[in-house]
Amino acid sequence: MRTIIGISGSLRHRSYNTALLRAAQEMVSEETELEIASIREIPLYDADVESDSGIPAVVKTLQDRIVASDGLLIATPEYNHGIPGVLKNAIDWLTRPDAETRRVFRDRPVAVMGATPGRGGTILAQAAWLPVLRTLETRPYFGERMMLSRAGDAIDKEGRLVDEKARERLKRFMAGYEAFIARG
Ligand code: FNR
Repeated sequence: MRTIIGISGSLRHRSYNTALLRAAQEMVSEETELEIASIREIPLYDADVESDSGIPAVVKTLQDRIVASDGLLIATPEYNHGIPGVLKNAIDWLTRPDAETRRVFRDRPVAVMGATPGRGGTILAQAAWLPVLRTLETRPYFGERMMLSRAGDAIDKEGRLVDEKARERLKRFMAGYEAFIARG
């Protein structure tokens, strides 16, 4: 059994990015489980907190879940043509203390996808992830991109991805990512 940890970069209850992750959960093969992990309880990074009280338990738990997994799937919103702060903050905590960067991220197969109600499909947020994935020494998945524009039309009020073309693209993306993980 293969496990992928999925992280949505939005805390919003009706987040399009979380909806995209949920849709991906239904599409993975039988050998794979996509577990969605929340970043809601992760505090703002503060080096004083780290030195005085250590790494928050919620961060340690997520670090261990990623280490035990076969891959990390990030569903990123795009804020002001970049990475939303809550998501970058979570990734920054996950790299603390220093040695965790290697343990959690080095050689880890990481895929990035994203959804937006706008037309740009999160292309700039996805590009903004590149230097981060590089510096963490991940093994980024560079297959066909998964960008969902006009997400309000593709995702219904219950948070289901209903657009058939988008579903097909997401299915191909996940199949490609799973094959990439399997190649090792
Ligand atoms: C946005 N949004 C946005 N969308 C986009 O395509 N490009 C952008 O640069 C921005 N910038 C931006 C900045 C800020 C501060 C906010 C709050 C929003 C819109 C964004 O894509 C939209 O709110 C999505 O719904 C966020 O993703 P979730 O919460 O639906 O997953």
